[in-house]
Amino acid sequence: MQFAEQPADILARLEQLRAADAPTHGGHVLSYVYDSGLAELDELAAASIRAVQPVNGLDPTTFTSVAVMEGEVVAFARDLLGGDSDVVGSVTTGGTESCLLAVKTARDLWTGSGRPRLVAPVTVHAAFHKAAHYFGLELDLVPVGQDGRPSAQAVIERLGEDVALVVVSAPSYPHAALDPVAEVAAAAAAAGIPCHVDACIGGWVLPFWSGLAPWDFRVPGVTSVSADLHKFGYAPKGVSVLLQRGRDRQRAQFFTTTRWPGYPVVNPTMLGSKSAGALAAGWAITHALGRDGLAELAASCERSTAALVALVDGIEGLRVVGSPVGPLIAVAADEGTPADRRVDPHHWADQARAHGWLLQLQPGLAQSDGSVLPHTTHLTITPVTEAVLPELSAALVTAADEVRGVPAVSPADVLGALPGLPDGPLDSAAAAAILGSIGLVAGDSGGLPDRMAPFLALVGALPAPLVERLLTELIGRVVEPR
Ligand SMILES: Cc1ncc(COP(=O)(O)O)c(C=O)c1O
Repeated sequence: MQFAEQPADILARLEQLRAADAPTHGGHVLSYVYDSGLAELDELAAASIRAVQPVNGLDPTTFTSVAVMEGEVVAFARDLLGGDSDVVGSVTTGGTESCLLAVKTARDLWTGSGRPRLVAPVTVHAAFHKAAHYFGLELDLVPVGQDGRPSAQAVIERLGEDVALVVVSAPSYPHAALDPVAEVAAAAAAAGIPCHVDACIGGWVLPFWSGLAPWDFRVPGVTSVSADLHKFGYAPKGVSVLLQRGRDRQRAQFFTTTRWPGYPVVNPTMLGSKSAGALAAGWAITHALGRDGLAELAASCERSTAALVALVDGIEGLRVVGSPVGPLIAVAADEGTPADRRVDPHHWADQARAHGWLLQLQPGLAQSDGSVLPHTTHLTITPVTEAVLPELSAALVTAADEVRGVPAVSPADVLGALPGLPDGPLDSAAAAAILGSIGLVAGDSGGLPDRMAPFLALVGALPAPLVERLLTELIGRVVEPR
């Protein structure tokens, strides 16, 4: 066959495109990527993906390798997360899918009437907002304290007959808070309500973290746990596990139908046909690392996290939120310092980016009890962080020095820069015009402006539906054909 373009040219172009990406290795991006720092693991993952490239993960009876790999990954995860032989599970394509399926299962098993409720601390991952939206549950969010932790009592008080599921996190993404799993699970069990532990980010690293009380299947009343291999399991994107206590519970996760004139559909997860690549990579990595390897990498994360917590706490004008459990931290302005010595965490993140380090800006949040969680900057720490700790630390200190005393972007200023906002819903052109007026238009290669603090201020100042519409427009346009 005469190809339209030569494979070598296509790959050269891909390489060029990849060169413009944020660096996926080397520890300069402190969110999204989980770099073990072990090149052999990346090679192993790539070879494993290649070996199953043509396989359809839809049918583990035709492609029996899928059944074996999935069974072994689930067994490894179950053991890691304190489950016995009553715990079964599925490999999914990621944290969001695991969370969606935990909610779908609970909804399908709920026997009440009316609209089921999903109770969770306000810090629960947005995947549960999505799940509630997709599956028609009312999301009941419980305020947390300034340390990012909910009181167990506050969560327990919300439990009732209409609750289909209560969710706690181990830990939460925004503040690395370990929710009160044991207390909530016990109360939920007493009320006959299932309890999901979202350990998407912590599941493969907290089992090795020092000094933690049980938060997994060792806790009676925990009915399901999600844990992502593509985070601290160091697998390429596209692989997570959802474990459920009890076969009968897990069977409610499936969608099965014979009511069409095609093949019987038996889907334990959301997709139909699916790649087996990430499963194979995750499977290979669990075999290569084993518990000892994971423990070694977790120890590196723990050392780096302790060092960064101490570093940030030592920077005048900044503070770490709460007591992070796991390799992630949220950094806020230290309100105890005079305004002219304070460091705004979003200016700090923008400044760190100018020095080549990508931190993640998180908006503040007004909670239903009237209290406000401050805006923060998030850092995910991975094994590779340890190798770059001296340069990273120096950059974080310098960035803070460079923006100390610069006030946070005032919502009034960004709002003032906006054209008059329409009353009704925005159409695509109007949304794009607003984005343009605040300089938030993706460049030719899709990238965004270097300074994100003004945009985050807008997120805090504008009504959520409006910002959500603007963000939808932004990302919709980023991937449109140019
Ligand atoms: C606690 C938690 N739950 C769920 C998710 C969603 O995972 P994913 O991005 O793999 O869909 C994340 C992602 O960071 C997370 O931290």
